[in-house]
Amino acid sequence: MQGNRIKNFADYKKEYQKSIKNPELFWEKKAENFFWRKKWDIVLDWDFVTPDVKWFDGGKLNITENCLDRHLETRGDQVAIKWIANNPDEKARDITYKELHLNVCSFANVLKRNGVKKGDRICIYMPMVPELAIAVLSCARIGAIHSVVFAGFSSKSLSDRINDADCNILITADGGFRGDKVIPLKSISDDAMKNAPSIEKCIVLKRTNTSINMMNGRDVWWHEELENVDSNFDAEIMNSEDPLFILYTSGSTGKPKGIVHTNAGYMIYTEYSFKNVFQYEEGDIYWCTADIGWITGHSYIVYGPLLSGATTMMFEGIPTYPDAGRFWKIIEENKVNIFYTAPTAIRSLEAKGLDFVTPYDLSSLKVLGTVGEPINEDAWHWYNQEIGKGNAPIVDTWWQTETGGIMISNLAGVTPAKPTFATLPLPGIQTCLIDENGQEILKNSVEGKLCVKFPWPSMARTIYGDHNRFRETYFSKFKNKYFTGDGCLIDEDGMYRITGRVDDVLVVSGHNLGTAEIESAIDEHENVCETAIVGYPHTIKGNGVYAFVICHHQADDEESLRKEINELVSKIVGPIAKADKIQFVSGLPKTRSGKIMRRILRKIASGDSENLGDTSTLLDPSVVKEIKCGVQ
Ligand code: WTA
Repeated sequence: MQGNRIKNFADYKKEYQKSIKNPELFWEKKAENFFWRKKWDIVLDWDFVTPDVKWFDGGKLNITENCLDRHLETRGDQVAIKWIANNPDEKARDITYKELHLNVCSFANVLKRNGVKKGDRICIYMPMVPELAIAVLSCARIGAIHSVVFAGFSSKSLSDRINDADCNILITADGGFRGDKVIPLKSISDDAMKNAPSIEKCIVLKRTNTSINMMNGRDVWWHEELENVDSNFDAEIMNSEDPLFILYTSGSTGKPKGIVHTNAGYMIYTEYSFKNVFQYEEGDIYWCTADIGWITGHSYIVYGPLLSGATTMMFEGIPTYPDAGRFWKIIEENKVNIFYTAPTAIRSLEAKGLDFVTPYDLSSLKVLGTVGEPINEDAWHWYNQEIGKGNAPIVDTWWQTETGGIMISNLAGVTPAKPTFATLPLPGIQTCLIDENGQEILKNSVEGKLCVKFPWPSMARTIYGDHNRFRETYFSKFKNKYFTGDGCLIDEDGMYRITGRVDDVLVVSGHNLGTAEIESAIDEHENVCETAIVGYPHTIKGNGVYAFVICHHQADDEESLRKEINELVSKIVGPIAKADKIQFVSGLPKTRSGKIMRRILRKIASGDSENLGDTSTLLDPSVVKEIKCGVQ
């Protein structure tokens, strides 16, 4: 493994100070641990107005030589990817570093054979099988820009993304297994390609044996193509600032943003953050339950772990198949040491009860992690006690698609944890809070808008094809700062607590209320499992507070439960935050990454439930129907 880890709190403080005093020197030292074809001319060149940020400009490298080739001598026979199938009866697959290298080189040759050149955009729409990681790395090896689209998106979302990046190749599979369902990926791809004329070739992996159409001249089978290539592939030599990938993320307007990450900075930061946050030790089995279709999967299933020479697990299935004990069973069977998941998964498994947890031996766990949304106090304690048995520090990692890597988090067992707090920025990350007037807040115990005032290596460089939108969204709100869109509180000890998107702020009778704040107050009620708050037009207060609440058990008397909930809100947040309307629901409209689609709830709450826009990215569109019927 490269470099040394931070080992105690004093180390962290020292390292942080160093990183602020001389960021160039700090990151240059980290960069020296990698394999470069040519060293950089200049460490950092930046301007947050244009904005234009370059790290290690003039350097030449290939990220896959750092993920794979340089490990071959020292850990060629170590498992790089440990894959667990959706179906518990299907055999798991262990792929060593040697085998992964061979697979990546072979598939890079397949890409070449199909006309791929450096700089081409390649869309990947695949299930969570090892070939997805192989496809990603093969693109990086040949210098093509991968754009992974989560395999739950609709054909329309897929064609929009292909068209936005003008991709010439689509890599997909006949189908994908998720729980007891088979997702017909090739037929969805066929629909998408009807509206995506830029696709010249479609490479299809056989996974489910679903019968599909293959279009002559356009569609080719992955396994047949492999028969025609050899397994040597000289990595394309890339410039530090050449794009590595595009990943789409939703914005406040409808059109998704193609976030662009580049090679060198992303490589250095994902490795550094991976080994420090999770305190990865030689031989550990690390499991991140995200999908590679999201940034968490890019940075902390594929790149960060492989750069660090780790054993990274990939799981094809879902937490509740065949039952809600699946995660815990996998942990027991594979002796997982580090487990990284999302609060939404934790809460939903908590709601299923301990009968699904207690049968399993979870004593291998050393570190737990969460990502993607604020974790409420109750879920934090459940995770800590029932899963970690009080012995495994929880890292609450705050970051974004745009930041490329973890920005604010405790370092497992090394820096202090605090429930519901992401705690402290990583070395090199110069965060700050901004007040109503756009001024930096210089004292603690206050809330503000979270910004970053100095570049870090893995930051996004642009939105593909729309640099103006990049500037407008992130760099124009506050001068010389990257604006995250999140609200944040810094407590008396300087610890950061993310309070949720500031675009979710509700102004009620002239008071600013954080939706996340009200939600966590309501979640304190013993019968409440999860809450989503949105605003709706209110003639007197400007905005009314509308609460959608999931209960553990159906209330005998809904009216008195509403009263109890509001008493709690009144007590915790203040009477101003009391919900005007409370609707009990059995589920919330969520994206597959667990984000509540507030846009939909806002429309329903404001009585405009006919025109809900695109709901194809929802995990379970049927909840919307139910919610519409119960409007208060
Ligand atoms: C939210 C996911 C609270 C936040 C890596 C951010 C969090 C958005 C946390 C980015 C956390 C992520 N605590 N909120 N630990 N982590 N968020 O782009 O609002 O899918 O802006 O990246 O998720 O989501 P994205």
